[in-house]
Amino acid sequence: MIELDALTKVYDEDVVAVDQLSLSVSPGEVYGLLGPNGAGKTTTLRMILGLLPPTSGDARILGCTVSSEPLRIKRLIGLVSASAGLYQWLTPRELLRYFAVGFGLNEEQTVQRIAELSERMDLGRYIDRRCATLSTGQAQRVNLARALVHDPPVVLLDEPTRGLDVVGAKVVIDFVGQLRESGKAIIVCTHQLEEAERFCDRFGLLYRGKLKYEGTLPELKHETGQGSLVDIFLELMRDDPVSTDNEKEPAFAR
Ligand SMILES: Nc1ncnc2c1ncn2[C@@H]1O[C@H](COP(=O)(O)OP(=O)(O)OP(=O)(O)O)[C@@H](O)[C@H]1O
Ligand SMILES: [Mg+2]
Repeated sequence: MIELDALTKVYDEDVVAVDQLSLSVSPGEVYGLLGPNGAGKTTTLRMILGLLPPTSGDARILGCTVSSEPLRIKRLIGLVSASAGLYQWLTPRELLRYFAVGFGLNEEQTVQRIAELSERMDLGRYIDRRCATLSTGQAQRVNLARALVHDPPVVLLDEPTRGLDVVGAKVVIDFVGQLRESGKAIIVCTHQLEEAERFCDRFGLLYRGKLKYEGTLPELKHETGQGSLVDIFLELMRDDPVSTDNEKEPAFAR
């Protein structure tokens, strides 16, 4: 359902953020796009969404390419990002309504969709409170609901559990499980490698914009001779330790 074909992004000053990235994700599959800080994960998601034009290559969803139909492709995707802010002065209900109307739902569909999402994400207690007053975990539930307002076949999640406690992270992971069961094609970028081991069906390990390894966990373990994703990462970065020296944050979290 999602197909990336030699997707490449060169930023100004010759920073090759994503380098000839090709991969595909099927309906009902959770693909973990992993890699250290600066590997090119967010850049990849932004190109799939049509927010950032690729330097070369293309992304296709259900036969629709981002290069020729950037608006149509946005309707096919729900994006959940840890860095996406909510409109602080709106309530979750108003926010969901704003996006539902933006995606062309009529009044009846909008009311029904908000009721469904509110129940599913358990927003009831704070759906009419201003977003500014929500905790990080509550805000992330609203973010998840917002991403699904138009019931897209593809969901992209960029660090969806960042800043969440174990309960909040579990909500997100259960949510991803529900999406998988409903047949959506899903890409998750995360630094929580042990969490990713549990909920991703297949992995792509990006390093300096290049796909270094791809496969299921058993396949990756077999290929690298390592016992876990954390160990596979350590091995990957040992190949080129210089690259991690100028990163301010830790390359990944256990
Ligand atoms: N707007 C931009 N202009 C120039 N370079 C950029 C821009 N955005 C990202 N980059 C560079 O592209 C590379 C990939 O960045 P990207 O944000 O895609 O990485 P990431 O894998 O999402 O990292 P993180 O795990 O830290 O979120 C980095 O070297 C980054 O500095
Ligand atoms: Mg990122």
